[in-house]
Amino acid sequence: MTALNPDDAKRLAAARALDLVTPGMRLGLGTGTTAAHFVELLGLRVAQGLQVICVPTSERTRTQAQLFSIPLSTIEATPELDLTVDGADEFDPQLRLIKGGGGAHLREKIVAMASRRMVVITDSSKAVVTLGKFPLPVEVNVFGLEVTRRMILAAAKASGCDGEIRLRKTPSGHPFVSDNGHFIVDCFLGSIPDPNQLAARLVAIPGVVEHGLFIGIAKAVISAGPDGVEIFG
Ligand code: 5RP
Repeated sequence: MTALNPDDAKRLAAARALDLVTPGMRLGLGTGTTAAHFVELLGLRVAQGLQVICVPTSERTRTQAQLFSIPLSTIEATPELDLTVDGADEFDPQLRLIKGGGGAHLREKIVAMASRRMVVITDSSKAVVTLGKFPLPVEVNVFGLEVTRRMILAAAKASGCDGEIRLRKTPSGHPFVSDNGHFIVDCFLGSIPDPNQLAARLVAIPGVVEHGLFIGIAKAVISAGPDGVEIFG
């Protein structure tokens, strides 16, 4: 038997999530390579006549969905959604997530929380016992960047984490700017022993626009790997 490579696993998880879509649904479309598989598979179903209306979580996803002629709306026009399908950078046994590897976690969180159900699709490498090996993205206001960075570091230390906070840069060395016009800092913490406590401290920092911890938001995780598909939640 051929081993499932991570990209095949992502597509398999996306295909499973497509089974949850029924005609007339209002969908949130996530961002990233796994979500892109879902958008492509959904596009094929739309071409066959499936009727849905979708809110993308990034300009990248909007462009991809338009290529597939998927009917789109905005979160302003469609503030209540039935289902959001999105990827994640890490998930733990309590279905707490780290998201934002693609810098889209602000819109992803708003869209997920506007949805009756958020389902995460991943390859099995994203499963962890303790969150934090993947650097935690935090979207921050451009004004006061250094002050905010120091406050994030203090919040991390007070929550039992240690590490470094780095401004995300593009390959050409410029600061990465989110779809919302903000910077992203990545918190290299190694391990987050108490994600709930860290999340509470981060939201209290004025320059923090949104952090990539998703707690109590995902209702299920569809994870595909060499042993097949596992559904958590
Ligand atoms: C983007 C995200 C993505 O869902 C996350 O980074 C996972 O990406 P991929 O599916 O490419 O592994 O949160 O902001």
